[in-house]
Amino acid sequence: MKIEGRSYRTIWPSCGGAAVDIIDQTRLPHELVIARLETAEDAARAISTMQVRGAPLIGATAAYGMWLACLADSGDGALDGAHDRLLATRPTAINLRWALEEMRASLRNLAPESRAGAALARANAIADEDAATCEAIGGHGLELIREAAARRKGGGPVNVLTHCNAGWLAAVDWGTALAPVYKAFEAGIDIHVWVDETRPRNQGAALTAFELGHHGVAHTVIADNAGGHLMQRGEVDLVIVGTDRTAANGDVANKIGTYLKALAAHDNGVPFYVALPHATIDWTIASGADIPIEERGGEEVTHMRGRMAGGDMVEIEISAPGSPAANPAFDVTPARLVSGLITERGVCAASREGLLSLYPERADG
Ligand code: MRU
Repeated sequence: MKIEGRSYRTIWPSCGGAAVDIIDQTRLPHELVIARLETAEDAARAISTMQVRGAPLIGATAAYGMWLACLADSGDGALDGAHDRLLATRPTAINLRWALEEMRASLRNLAPESRAGAALARANAIADEDAATCEAIGGHGLELIREAAARRKGGGPVNVLTHCNAGWLAAVDWGTALAPVYKAFEAGIDIHVWVDETRPRNQGAALTAFELGHHGVAHTVIADNAGGHLMQRGEVDLVIVGTDRTAANGDVANKIGTYLKALAAHDNGVPFYVALPHATIDWTIASGADIPIEERGGEEVTHMRGRMAGGDMVEIEISAPGSPAANPAFDVTPARLVSGLITERGVCAASREGLLSLYPERADG
């Protein structure tokens, strides 16, 4: 997608095949900084510190991290070490494990001297597939937005509410929850997005607002607590969010606060859709209760980072000094609150049967 009229992806190989470049998301929205990853450890650190984040992008970064590991040492021991180090970076997004397993499977039976080339080819393919998959999600979600537009009686824009950042910055391109929005925008549908700020790290206010703004999509940042009120007043036509891991029964883990939006949507009869690529489905987990929830540092809750009027970036303390803070980073929305799952293969019910109708090859487990 575009920033200042220039097309970007979030990650790409660079230096004539010796490194990987990323958009450093810890610097957005105030600075557009491209960071360079030269080792698997760089890739692991970029994921842990959330220079890259969002389930699909975490997976793509891990894939390139395995390639960087191969450039240094393509022996079995080094690759196993890189795999384990990358897997330990963030626990909830299943795309991480998926991408690492894809990489290991494609390299395992190759002679060490062939592995670096094969690893780059597979990592590039994972990135390209992610972009194509997300675009397909956009096409299917577009139909839901068209239906919402047709349901609107008084005219005006279709109002979509989203939580966190599940746009192109969270993937390689297009995004998951925002891909339908971009498709609707391209199709000339009058659309407006309510952007939850998404405390504590503010991925909505910082990243979703940044990418929608640069693409020219009308949007408004709201405090996380405003969504229920807007739904009660009929100002939300549908909710679309992403997910970091979808259990085999259709329960979805996503950024903390998603569950509260689903409850409010259910109470107000607002459709609540979850957009995801196949790599986000964890077929080994029967329900959301088994999804590991990342616990992050309390300082993300007690402190905030932002730009002063003069342009300097500062971190300030916002809570009572000394008060402890808890920071669960994700929550689980039960399938019963989800109107449908938007995948690259189409839209299905949030249930085992629904998922199997789109992915029948998984019926045997
Ligand atoms: O902690 P983050 O910023 O990595 O969390 C991201 C989300 O929760 C997204 O909604 C999710 O990864 C879906 S991304 C397309």
